[in-house]
Amino acid sequence: MGRLDGKVAIITGGARGQGASEGALFASEGATVYLTDVLVDDGAKVAADIGATFLPHDVTDPAQWSQVVERVLADTGRVDVLVNNAGILHWAPMTETSLDVWNRIIAVNQTGVFLGMQAVSSTMKAQRSGSIVNISSIGGMRGASPCFAYGATKWAVRGMTKGAAQELGPFNVRVNSVHPGIIDTPMMADQPLDAMTDRVPLRRYASADEVAKLVLWLAGDESGYATGAEFTLDGGQTA
Ligand SMILES: NC(=O)c1ccc[n+]([C@@H]2O[C@H](COP(=O)([O-])OP(=O)(O)OC[C@H]3O[C@@H](n4cnc5c(N)ncnc54)[C@H](O)[C@@H]3O)[C@@H](O)[C@H]2O)c1
Repeated sequence: MGRLDGKVAIITGGARGQGASEGALFASEGATVYLTDVLVDDGAKVAADIGATFLPHDVTDPAQWSQVVERVLADTGRVDVLVNNAGILHWAPMTETSLDVWNRIIAVNQTGVFLGMQAVSSTMKAQRSGSIVNISSIGGMRGASPCFAYGATKWAVRGMTKGAAQELGPFNVRVNSVHPGIIDTPMMADQPLDAMTDRVPLRRYASADEVAKLVLWLAGDESGYATGAEFTLDGGQTA
């Protein structure tokens, strides 16, 4: 018996990295998985490999959110889990962040999460069940210099999670945030991960699979009394 048997999950940014790992784990635990991403070829390949469905999707576009949810409802009649995982990283301190960059990071990392929660809320409320997992960062727990705009959005995700949890809790819809530390994914491909672990009490970075295991727990019924909470997975970096 799978830990997500009978559940329907949408995972944004599912073409690679953490989203792809979450999709594979969810599918292996019995979920019907929809991966979405702007990377169409990669997303379609990952979905085919793990027995999921891929939907092309830019999380900044409300019309595309409607299309994704309509398609999932047409196929399955429900949405049990939304993982707002899609994100982009930009390295620039506050004094060197252009307005264009700022707006782009906000659009993907912050507005994308808002639109996603909004898009599934009426369905989850009507079901009287649902779990939304918003992927923030340890950049949402403290200053994120020199990734100023990124950090701003990850704090926003943390705050939006708590507001949405208060709003949706009476409908048995849970909303939690996950705050990864250094995770070995394509987003960090240019970074000296080994050198960065000097600041990590556990002296290592993590794999995407380790994040997926936490997200699995939050997605399923085992975490049924957790909402509005923040879950840090950072080897102690923010301790
Ligand atoms: N890797 C880390 O160290 C780390 C640490 C903390 C938080 N995070 C967060 O984890 C999440 C997953 O990141 P990852 O490490 O797997 O990175 P990644 O770059 O490997 O994956 C991110 C995915 O999001 C997709 N994406 C980007 N813009 C999109 C858009 N507009 N619409 C739809 N999809 C879009 C990308 O195409 C990509 O497939 C992100 O929110 C990231 O900010 C990552």
